[in-house]
Amino acid sequence: MMNSVMAKMSKTLAILPLLALGSELCTAKKAANATLAVSEQTYTQKTPTRGGTGKMYMDREISQVMGHLGAGWLERSEREREERTDLLVKNLELKSDETVADIGAGSGYFTFRMAKLVPEGKAFAVDISKQMLAIVKGRIGKFKTENVVPVLSTITDVKLPENSVDCVLIVDAYHEFSHPREMGLSILKALKPGGRLVLIEYRLEDPKVPIKRLHKMTQAQSQKEMKAIGFDWKETRDMLPQQHFMVYLKPDPKSKNTPE
Ligand SMILES: C[S@@+](CC[C@H](N)C(=O)[O-])C[C@H]1O[C@@H](n2cnc3c(N)ncnc32)[C@H](O)[C@@H]1O
Repeated sequence: MMNSVMAKMSKTLAILPLLALGSELCTAKKAANATLAVSEQTYTQKTPTRGGTGKMYMDREISQVMGHLGAGWLERSEREREERTDLLVKNLELKSDETVADIGAGSGYFTFRMAKLVPEGKAFAVDISKQMLAIVKGRIGKFKTENVVPVLSTITDVKLPENSVDCVLIVDAYHEFSHPREMGLSILKALKPGGRLVLIEYRLEDPKVPIKRLHKMTQAQSQKEMKAIGFDWKETRDMLPQQHFMVYLKPDPKSKNTPE
């Protein structure tokens, strides 16, 4: 009799840790659901407008993604004259040993131009499109470019090493990121402290810029979104005919010069 009571007790004692683990798992699941609920509130869905996804982020509708069939348009010969891409690249003020990342690189129009200016560094061409990266790889082979590194990213993660990049460039791509908040945080993580993000978007404030509405952005909107994830706005330069050239910094805890 005594033996069977003891046996029952030891069985109960044996399953206690499992019960505790079960309740811990339950709490962890609840916490995960809570986090999910918060991130779900980050985005809301409405009926899409023309060229849009209907997905709203901070009062902005996210546009549809440009597919690889748009590569010819990105590489058009008039682009330099129309958009002064030469001035854009010059204003990046790259140093020869810097590590740069072109996020939403497309066919690599800017990656290869940046790579030339960082002969002792490297240029990551980051894109979610395998077809776009295939174009980049083709060009690496054709021109024997040694410092361009193609990176297949995801819609939430740039897949770059932490604290490794001096300068991130995003041209005409941010407005189509399906998860701008997660992408922004991932870029922040990849930048070195004090590193810069140069965000180029067509000026929505200017009705004369002949680009679809969802492919344009106001400076105020961009600053609101970047501030929300922890970037410091440094300056906006006005030398481009159609686009904002907006510079944001990853705060550097060691620097006294971080903007307010
Ligand atoms: C309009 S193209 C611009 C390409 C290039 N920046 C240029 O100006 O020549 C936008 C690119 O962003 C890419 N893209 C969209 N969402 C992305 C994301 N979350 N992460 C990385 N690339 C993305 C698309 O695949 C496309 O190649």
